[in-house]
Amino acid sequence: MTEILIELKNVSKRFKTELVLQPTNLSFEKGKIYGLAGRNGSGKTVLLKMISGFLKPDTGTVTINGVLLGEKNEFPDNMGILIDRPGFLPYQSAFQTLKTLSQIRKTISDSDIRDVLKKVGLENTGKKHVGKFSMGMKQRLGIAQAIMESPTILLLDEPMNGLDNQGVKEMRNLLRNYCSGDRLIILASHMQDDINGLCDIVYHIDAGKIYDQKN
Ligand SMILES: Nc1ncnc2c1ncn2[C@@H]1O[C@H](COP(=O)(O)OP(=O)(O)O)[C@@H](O)[C@H]1O
Ligand SMILES: [Mg+2]
Repeated sequence: MTEILIELKNVSKRFKTELVLQPTNLSFEKGKIYGLAGRNGSGKTVLLKMISGFLKPDTGTVTINGVLLGEKNEFPDNMGILIDRPGFLPYQSAFQTLKTLSQIRKTISDSDIRDVLKKVGLENTGKKHVGKFSMGMKQRLGIAQAIMESPTILLLDEPMNGLDNQGVKEMRNLLRNYCSGDRLIILASHMQDDINGLCDIVYHIDAGKIYDQKN
């Protein structure tokens, strides 16, 4: 049985004269990795922001796990998000960064944080300050903060940016393992290579329209 976790009905978005998304119906089921492909400026980030509650659609509704976004909840529960570059504090270590963020919900322990650092390959960064991290290391930390509380839904905007070849391989494995039966990942990328072979379903965005492409 399939189960829809995210449902967009008649969702559209315009900035002044630019129609970024025409009225669109789209649904996302659990257990699948979805790719959002499209050129720079095609509207991938805008779509992810509307799903995560950062941006309001001009028309239509977004429903997450049966709850209408913006009515009871401004931001959906149980969603891990990596959109834009996370603004980490420069004078904290990777561990301290995640520890600080984990204080908001208080659902994970120090050993969970160490586990997630290992998962993203940052277990040996010790006391090194995040301000001194390379772009790829910051990206890994961004992914760690998105997955550390084991959310059901994971939204990742260009998650392979800044990663070396090894990092890309590790990321693909991590995402495949993460997306077990009851989880859902949406991954936006302008690089077809990031998506090929990883995503179960790929949507292409072009000129405000979304095209379905079975992978
Ligand atoms: N806050 C905003 N105000 C005005 N225009 C925006 C805003 N955010 C995005 N846009 C425009 O919407 C279009 C889609 O942007 P975006 O979703 O970031 O593209 P992508 O992520 O596919 O590269 C672009 O033309 C961008 O300039
Ligand atoms: Mg983008």
